[in-house]
Parts: sequence; structure tokens; C-alpha cells
Amino acid sequence: MIRLDKYLADAGIGTRSQVKQYLKKGMVTVNGQIQKRPEQKVTPGEDLILFQGKAVAYTKYEYYMLNKPAGCVSATRDSEHKTVLDYIDSRRDDLFPAGRLDRDTEGLLVITNDGALSHRLLSPAHHVPKSYFVRVSGCVREDAIDLCRLGLDIGDEKPTKPALLEILSAGESSELLLTITEGRYHQIKRMCHVLGHPLEYLKRVSFGPLALDDSLAPGQYRPLTPEEIAQLKNEENICCIIKKQ
Ligand code: URA
Repeated sequence: MIRLDKYLADAGIGTRSQVKQYLKKGMVTVNGQIQKRPEQKVTPGEDLILFQGKAVAYTKYEYYMLNKPAGCVSATRDSEHKTVLDYIDSRRDDLFPAGRLDRDTEGLLVITNDGALSHRLLSPAHHVPKSYFVRVSGCVREDAIDLCRLGLDIGDEKPTKPALLEILSAGESSELLLTITEGRYHQIKRMCHVLGHPLEYLKRVSFGPLALDDSLAPGQYRPLTPEEIAQLKNEENICCIIKKQ
């Protein structure tokens, strides 16, 4: 059961204070009766709630794919920088990013209010694969592929778990596709540093079964499709062990 004003605000009818005004004016009915009390408890999916005579559908969870632009932080609020939530036009006040990308990193970030799913996706036990398009300075040699697969000492207690490196191009600077199953602090930056190739550009292109929708420019987002949500919830899709050999 949730408060009626939250139900209406989450469904996009208005802000909490607008919704309170609508309630006061008698514009909302619950199971056929005008209801003016914002604190009235209702059960989504059971109670019939009408606003100006039209049924108001409620979705408990929302899921978005954001192409995070550089320059904003993966947080719900920040006193200095824009946050990833500033790009999402939703009246919900309980959205958060499922995971973090550094301020200068671009790419795929899931924004949701589904805490249980986010917890599963971020749990180290699940080894969710995350692929990054990486540009580094210098010419990356083939032996970096084995080094990444065997695990790199990036200064933590343990070496990194096996990662898949694909060299897309190599020259004065090199372009790589790097897939990791962990989420350590600055992991890709530190891996590239240990390989001797300072990072120039980083963009996450996939997260578990989700691929970044390339019609989304940096700063744009869209709701996940029902198929994408089902794929994210499927345990088989989120566990991936990369073998050393
Ligand atoms: N690794 C990094 O170094 N930065 C990110 O934002 C993500 C992975």
C-alpha cells in the first residue's frame, strides 16, 4: 500500500504539491468515491484510481538506458556537478543509477528505482560483463591480450579477474574493446596505466545483456523495452566467467 499522493505523482500526474491541489479540488476518485486526503493508502493494481474521470495506471519500477555524457557524476545529487538524474525527465523521486561511471566516462548507464535488481547486477558474485570502447595513447601490442586474460596487478590486494581485450586498431593511439566482470574503482584507467598506455577516452558500450542504443546521443535516454528488462532479470544473462586459458 502506498500514499495516494505518491501514487499520483509517480504516475506522472504532477508534483506532490500539484497533486495535493488536485485532490483538494475533488479531481480524484478511489473506487468511485472522491478522495481528498493525500495520505490515504491505496493498493496499486487493486484500487481503481481515476483522475478527471480517467484511470491512472501505476508502474512500480522504471528502467531507463542513459547514454551518459562526460562531465556529469553518477550520483543522485551533487553540489558541484550535474548528475545523471538531471538528464532524466521523470517525476519520480526514487530513481538512481545502477552502478557508476567516472565523471569523464561516457556510455551506457541503467537508471532505475528497482533496488533489488540493481543490487543483483552490481553484486561481485554475479560477474556481470561490462564492455568498454577505449582509446589509449601509444601502440598496444598483441601481448596485452594475454596480460588482460591472466589478470593485472593494478595495486589492489588481488589481481584483476580475467578480462577480454580486443585490439580494434593500433598506431599512435590505439582503440580497444575491453570486457571486464568486476567494477573496481577506476578499473579500466588503472588497467591501461599498468599496460603502459594512458587512457584518452572511455565509453561503456554494454552492460550484461544490454548494448548501448547507438541512436542515443550523449545525454539522451530511453525507457528499457520489456524484453530488455526481462533479459536483465534473467540470472543466466548476467553471470559471465571469463576463463584464463
Ligand atoms: N573504469 C574506469 O576507469 N572508469 C569508468 O568509468 C568505468 C570503468
